[in-house]
Amino acid sequence: MIRPILAASLAGAIALSGVAAAQDGATLALAATCATCHGPNGHSQGAIPSLAGRPQARLQAALNDMIEGRRPATIMLKVLAGYRPDEVDAALAWFSRQPPPPATAP
Ligand code: HEC
Repeated sequence: MIRPILAASLAGAIALSGVAAAQDGATLALAATCATCHGPNGHSQGAIPSLAGRPQARLQAALNDMIEGRRPATIMLKVLAGYRPDEVDAALAWFSRQPPPPATAP
C-alpha cells in the first residue's frame, strides 16, 4: 500500500519539477526581451532604469503609474501592450530576484 502511494507522489514531484523548469525557461525568454532595453539581467548602462534587485511591488507600481497616466512613458506602454499581466508579473519577479547592479564608481 505504501509503495504505490510513494511512487505516485514521486511521479507527481517529478512532473511538477518539469513544469517548474518549463516555466523558468519561458520566463527567461520573456525577461530576455526586456533585457534588450533594460540591460543584461536588468543591469542598464544608460538612461533606461535598471530592474535587477528592485522589489517587485516597486517595479509594478512604476508601471501602474505609467498605465494610469501619473508618470510619462516614452515606450513602456507600447511594450506592455504586447504582454499578458501574468507575463509581466513573471518578468518583474525574475528581475527582482537578480543581484542589483554594482555601484557605479564616483
Ligand atoms: C524598447 C525598450 C524597452 C523594452 C523592450 C522594455 N522596456 Fe521597460 N522601460 C523602458 C523605458 C524607456 C522606460 C522608462 C519609461 C518610459 O520612457 O517608457 C522603462 C521603464 C520600465 C519600468 C519602470 C522602472 C522604474 O523604476 O522607473 C519597468 C518596471 C519596466 N520598464 C519593465 C519592463 C519589462 C518587465 C519589460 C519586458 C516585458 C520591459 N520593461 C521592456 C524601455 C523598455
